[in-house]
Amino acid sequence: MAKLKILKVGDEALRKVCRPVENITPRVLQLLDDMVETMRAADGVGLAAPQVGILRRIVVIETPDEGLFELINPKIIAYSGEQISEEGCLSVPGRWGTTKRPMHVTVRALNRKGETIDVTGSGLLAKAFCHELDHLDGKLYIDVAIKMDSVD
Ligand code: NI
Repeated sequence: MAKLKILKVGDEALRKVCRPVENITPRVLQLLDDMVETMRAADGVGLAAPQVGILRRIVVIETPDEGLFELINPKIIAYSGEQISEEGCLSVPGRWGTTKRPMHVTVRALNRKGETIDVTGSGLLAKAFCHELDHLDGKLYIDVAIKMDSVD
């Protein structure tokens, strides 16, 4: 495994629409491993492939309550409710913002075995699904934040 460099806001890779994964190759599996290692080392809840310069539809998410999710070609298939809470991003270091997100989100994706899975999350996990999937379309939470705070 290898820790990858996380790109910061201003890098144009963060603004690209990512392409779907066609085949789950050993390279994709290695990328998943490296993204998990990178996310954990940075103490993040999620990481999307464009944040490490790979323009493919892949995200990893890990929460204390729900564990690890490795999602390939993820799509939101249902959402409901609303939450207003604090949000941050490893590509926007030192800043936090307040966002409005759905309280419950269901995502359909492929797992690392190529199986289609549906995952439903609430609260933090729902927020992470929205945040990480937005990255795959070149969107950052600072685009939708109601309010930004600086902790610098
Ligand atoms: Ni982010």
